[in-house]
Formats: sequence, C-alpha cells, structure tokens
Amino acid sequence: MRYSDAIRSEQELEELLSTPSPALIEMMKRLDGDLMILGIAGKMGLTMGRRAARAIELAGVKKKVVGVSRFSKPADREKLEAWGIETIPCDLLDREQVRKLPRVANVVFMAGRKFGTDGSEELTWAMNTLVPGNVVEHFKASRIVAFSTGCVYPLVGPETGGCTEAVLPAPVGEYSQSCLGRERIFQHGAKAFGTKVLLFRLNYAIDLRYGVLHDIARQVWNNEPVTDSVGHFNVIWQGDANDAALRSLELAASPAAVLNVTGPETASLRSIAEQLGKLMGREVRYAHDGFGSGSCYLNNAAKMADLFGYPSVPLARMIRWQAEWFKNGGSSLGKPTHFEVNNGKF
Ligand SMILES: NC(=O)c1ccc[n+]([C@@H]2O[C@H](COP(=O)([O-])OP(=O)(O)OC[C@H]3O[C@@H](n4cnc5c(N)ncnc54)[C@H](OP(=O)(O)O)[C@@H]3O)[C@@H](O)[C@H]2O)c1
Repeated sequence: MRYSDAIRSEQELEELLSTPSPALIEMMKRLDGDLMILGIAGKMGLTMGRRAARAIELAGVKKKVVGVSRFSKPADREKLEAWGIETIPCDLLDREQVRKLPRVANVVFMAGRKFGTDGSEELTWAMNTLVPGNVVEHFKASRIVAFSTGCVYPLVGPETGGCTEAVLPAPVGEYSQSCLGRERIFQHGAKAFGTKVLLFRLNYAIDLRYGVLHDIARQVWNNEPVTDSVGHFNVIWQGDANDAALRSLELAASPAAVLNVTGPETASLRSIAEQLGKLMGREVRYAHDGFGSGSCYLNNAAKMADLFGYPSVPLARMIRWQAEWFKNGGSSLGKPTHFEVNNGKF
C-alpha cells in the first residue's frame, strides 16, 4: 500500500485506520460465524469495527459485526451504525445484561479501565477482573481475543531487547496487577470451559489524535519541556494493531495463547523528540536531561512479526505524520497515554 506524506483530516485518518490488509480479507473468507467487539466505543474499537466490516464486504462473505459498549457518547453509536455495524448498549459490569447478549463465534474484548486507578482501585479491579469473568462465562463457546497490555511485564532496559512472551509477568502497581488478573480470569475460562482465548499484550497504539507520539509532539509544538522520565518505548500504528487483533482470532487456543503486539523498533524518547522538533521547526527542551530512566515497558514483538509480517507503517513515517498533524492543526482526543509512568501509579 502507498501512503501519502501527511494525513490532513479525521476523515482521511479514519479511512486509513480502517483499511483492512489483504491477509485480513482472506481470513474473513475462512472465519466461521459473526463477530462481536466488546468495549467498541473506545479509541481503538471504532475503527476496528469499521475495518472488520470493510474486510467482510471485500471478502464477499456474509457475517455481522456487532459492537457493544455503554455508548457514553451517543454519536459513537450513530457513527458505527452508519458504517454498517449493529450496536447493542450494555454495561459489561452487569452480569444480567451480559447474559442477554447474543452469542457469537468470535469476540474481541476491549473494555478496560486504566486512568483514575489511583484512589479508585476497586473499580479498576472490578472492570479488569469481574467483567472478564462475566464475558468468558457467557461466551465460553466462542473464540476470544482479549486485549491486554505490556504493563503485565517487569520494567526493563533497552539492552534486554524487550520482554518476550516467555518472560514471567511481574506487574508494578494496581492497574498492571489488575491487568494480570484479567489475563488470569481468561486463562481460567480457557482451561475450565475449553474456551479458545488469545491474550493480546499491546504496547501503545498510534492514531495521531492520541498516543505516545502525540503526547511528545504536543509538548514540542507548544514549546513545553518534554516529559522524559522514560527513555525508551515501543509503538505500533493503530491500524496494524487492529488488523493483528482481528487476525489473532485464528490463533485463539485452549490453554490460552499469548501474543505481544507492538512495532519492531525500540524507540528512544530523545531521538524522537529531536526528530519532531526538526520537522516542526521547534527547539526541544526536556524536563530533565532528555535521557530518561532505563526502567521501561518494552515488548519484544518478534513472534508477531514472524506470524503476521512486519507492521505496514514504520516508525519514521508515524513520526512524519504526527509532526504534519500538529502543523496542520489536527485535533486531539485530550487523552494522554501517561507512557512516562514507570512507578505503577495511573
Ligand atoms: N490504546 C492503547 O494504546 C492501548 C495500549 C495497551 C492496552 N490497551 C488496551 O486495549 C483496550 C482498548 O484500548 P482503547 O484505548 O480503545 O480503550 P478505551 O478507549 O478505554 O476504550 C474502551 C471502551 O470500553 C467501553 N467500556 C468501558 N467500560 C465499559 C462497561 N462497563 N461496559 C461496556 N463498555 C465499557 C468504553 O466505552 P463506553 O463508555 O461507551 O462504554 C470505552 O470507551 C483497552 O483494554 C486498553 O487497556 C490499549
């Protein structure tokens, strides 16, 4: 696929974020049954729903895409319906409401809670462990791709090459611990009911309106000191992450499979801030010395690349797109990632 040098509107961005890969279109020809996305009305879910619907159409097959969320913003529901996605409002914390959802063969689970954990730990634990319990019990006969996070791993330095799936989880702080709890509940379902599960350990999706590059670029653009507590991180274009999530339905297994999902590059905060500064014509200042600590969330995505190939958008292009986005007055979701947190307090 040939990409342009800049993405100039939300419409263009959403179009790109929802363009399915040829491999996903092929998979839709093989996959049996309908698809349900739980927690669809989030930063990733909307364009994932549209990507799935477009892949199904291009595959020339008949299957439904059903999106489930509370739909806190009614406009999201209208958008999804306009893209051909059936929507069902449901609070996944309520077991009775979950029990009324139609059963489908394929489920992508994306609902979760991160920010605001500090001080409301009980709600984070409920969202990240009770909800998976409700879901895996109701959808025990389905394939489930359950979104997780690289935050279940220990913090490591870039010299390690990042944590592979073989590294034992050692979550720091209650948010990360509750995410391991979420994985354990799905693993239990996979063992107890034979449910086919894949745990999708994602590190930082990039969509220009939010994400790690957005957070750094915003500070550079506004001539603010760049927050530099973390020296390195991994990112992946959100379109590639969502494509991988849908393709991972075929990898769901019992006992549960695990897949790290991120880009192949180990990104250096300082190098990226300097590149953004150059592209945006800004001098870069740092909160400290710009090198950051060696305690980072780094995922090794070698297995993903082996299974699916390298992501379609390399880091250098994401950096250029992000710089152009700010220069062209592009919008922001106003949702910082807090990628700079490495003490477990979200
Ligand atoms: N984005 C990333 O870079 C990233 C990185 C690592 C891991 N992840 C994980 O990947 C998943 C998807 O990411 P995201 O950024 O799209 O998350 P998100 O923006 O938080 O979206 C999740 C959506 O789930 C819905 N939801 C929350 N509580 C619900 C409930 N009780 N019942 C039904 N729906 C509920 C919400 O929509 P309503 O308010 O409409 O219900 C929310 O917008 C999350 O679990 C996240 O932790 C994301």
